[in-house]
Amino acid sequence: MNPVTSTSTLEICPSDHAASPEERAKRMTNPRFGQVFTDHMVVIPYKEGQGWGRGVLKAYGPIEMSPASSVLHYGQAIFEGFKAYKQKDGSIASFRPEANAQRLNKSAARLAMPELPEARFLEATRALITQDQAWVPGAVGESLYMRPLMIGTEPALGVHASSEYLFILMASPSGAYFSGGVKPVTVWISDDYVRAAPGGTGFAKCAGNYAASLVAQRQAKGEGCDQVVWLDAIHREYIEEMGGMNIFFVYQEKGETVVVTPELTGTLLPGITRDSLLQLARELGFRSEERKISVAEWKAAVAEGRMTEAFACGTAAVITPVGHVKSRQGEWLVNNGETGPVAAKLREALLNLQHGLAPDSHGWMKTIVG
Ligand code: PLP
Ligand code: COI
Repeated sequence: MNPVTSTSTLEICPSDHAASPEERAKRMTNPRFGQVFTDHMVVIPYKEGQGWGRGVLKAYGPIEMSPASSVLHYGQAIFEGFKAYKQKDGSIASFRPEANAQRLNKSAARLAMPELPEARFLEATRALITQDQAWVPGAVGESLYMRPLMIGTEPALGVHASSEYLFILMASPSGAYFSGGVKPVTVWISDDYVRAAPGGTGFAKCAGNYAASLVAQRQAKGEGCDQVVWLDAIHREYIEEMGGMNIFFVYQEKGETVVVTPELTGTLLPGITRDSLLQLARELGFRSEERKISVAEWKAAVAEGRMTEAFACGTAAVITPVGHVKSRQGEWLVNNGETGPVAAKLREALLNLQHGLAPDSHGWMKTIVG
């Protein structure tokens, strides 16, 4: 494996078995989400005392590690998710990657893992997207999903923070996250399970949060629902998130449209889509609020006609309307189970910005391939 180019921080060693254009086209047809991977990945090693070493961009493939690696036993694993989009002019730009770099480091700090300098995160991003640019799909709603991962790899069974880590960046061409497209989902309000408790890891994007969510997701499916809605751990009353997404509610108050989302308490993941939508909502003339919302308020506000829409948001699925709510306390429809105009408007505004079809007044898009 001879590097074709290298800097002091990254060697570029292109794959000798990259997919042919025909094979790539076949694999990119209806890629769905997270099933197809590009030809390359970036791997950066860390050792206590030495810090982050030189990374390598190389063929995507299996990684070798000891069965005693700490991640396999004690779960030091964090990840991120962001996207690169084909722009109207054919260039490729990525949406707020530095926000993901910063959130990765907040997760790292919570899991006693080393922080990766933002410049190294962005260098890896730029190198991988540039190398695998032919894998960036072109249609609106399609993108190259970037998945950074950090794991503890020290081969030792004592319970302590690993002294060795790998940062890995992979890329996956993706279409719709939910197989039904943008159809409203039915949700189950979980009162048997909680996602996160105060003092825990809710604000971190760590693997264990997702492992712990799967049984609740299975229960939701058993109740005929697509997704689970999480409540706060203490009162089991206030809405926190929907599955792996943040949630918004739309109210009509005295002729004004108000977009409300649960406040960040430390148990919610601070979504980058959530933050972006709060800003876009204001620009579209909606008032926005971050506060607590109880299940009782959700049900009553819909019954009284004050709440007209609910939707979830995240990088993978962008915006997904919530059409039907089920719980042990009863069930109700939101907006007659249909996609509402505010969700549709925000989704369009965000997608237009991400694909370069609307001006980027925030400087959110980072051009990767000009
Ligand atoms: N909440 C959880 C638990 C998530 O896993 C995600 C996905 O990343 C989000 C919210 C949405 O975050 P973002 O908009 O940054 O993708
Ligand atoms: C999201 O990006 O919205 C997610 O839900 C991430 C998920 C695939 C873990």
